[in-house]
Amino acid sequence: MTQTVDAGDNTPTPAHDVVIGLRESFLTFTVLAAFAEHGIADRLADGPRTAAELAHDCGLDAAALTRVLPILIPAGILHADAQGRYRLTPAGETLKEGPDSLRATIRLAIEPAWWTTAGNVAETLRTGKSGFIARYGSSWNYLSTRPTSRSLFDHCMIDRSQSIGRDIAGRHDFGDIRSVIDVGGGAGTVLSEILGPHGHLTGTVLDLEPAIPSARDHLTAQGLTGRFRTVAGDFFQSVPGADEHPSAFLLASILHNWDDDHAQRILNNVAAAMGRQDRLLIAETPLPDDPCAPHPGRLLDLRMLIMFNGARERTESELRGLLDTAGLRVTGIVPLPSGPSLITAERV
Ligand SMILES: C[S@@+](CC[C@H](N)C(=O)[O-])C[C@H]1O[C@@H](n2cnc3c(N)ncnc32)[C@H](O)[C@@H]1O
Repeated sequence: MTQTVDAGDNTPTPAHDVVIGLRESFLTFTVLAAFAEHGIADRLADGPRTAAELAHDCGLDAAALTRVLPILIPAGILHADAQGRYRLTPAGETLKEGPDSLRATIRLAIEPAWWTTAGNVAETLRTGKSGFIARYGSSWNYLSTRPTSRSLFDHCMIDRSQSIGRDIAGRHDFGDIRSVIDVGGGAGTVLSEILGPHGHLTGTVLDLEPAIPSARDHLTAQGLTGRFRTVAGDFFQSVPGADEHPSAFLLASILHNWDDDHAQRILNNVAAAMGRQDRLLIAETPLPDDPCAPHPGRLLDLRMLIMFNGARERTESELRGLLDTAGLRVTGIVPLPSGPSLITAERV
């Protein structure tokens, strides 16, 4: 007799179907990625189109696209009408270019190095080391010589960081703050979401040289010209101080990229740059103390494991330990709707 399992909704599911379903979801993802890669969602912006029309618009093979698009109907991306014309569901809408788009996030997943690394978790489990680094070296170096991939990465971070920035802007009191220093700010997305509604603030993005054009472009496109500066630099060397106090230093999705020694060096440099009145805002996803407890941060932790040696999501007490060693005291930890928590700290 086939064994059944409870798939979480009290419906008995044959055990084989659970495993086969996981394999099929991987194949469905590859179709989603191709859909994003070819920009098909944007071709549906003006109304429903048949597979043949979409193939023509996107320069694709009509017979192949006709066979593949129905896979995205049960996936919740497309609807089809009786005339075989497709339109986007709300989830499908997120694959169009524009604010809150997830297109770059999906495309980055099939960037050759990202794709190869994700397919090789088995090797990481054997070595305990990052599969990306073993094959391609540091991702920051990899991106520094590939402007197209760097731009895709920056757009992916924009997709992810916009909602985090909005959450921070809406939940933290910036009333007395004069400026924000976004350390490892990438495209400056979190910074721009904070500067937008808080017109009295100015901001600085510190990042590696190859990230600076994306930061300039993004902050300029957000209408923030005159309110920001960019600094090309290395946060392991130093972090620029603020001209006015109190200022806020931001570390958004940074510490989880590094092992404890490197994370500590970043925090030490931030603490050294901070004045007594300044504060530190950290966006990270603390994991539960129970190592077996399921948590949405586990997949992010897997990504850190395969992308960077020693990088990981940390528990709240591990984060507190690093901050403590840097001479910083935690003043608050608030979960944000977008996923991470906002951890605030000040100099002891
Ligand atoms: C995961 S991204 C986070 C970007 C941004 N904080 C956000 O939330 O959108 C990490 C950033 O750290 C930057 N970075 C890596 N090594 C760095 C270094 N040594 N000095 C300064 N920035 C660095 C990367 O270029 C990248 O933009």
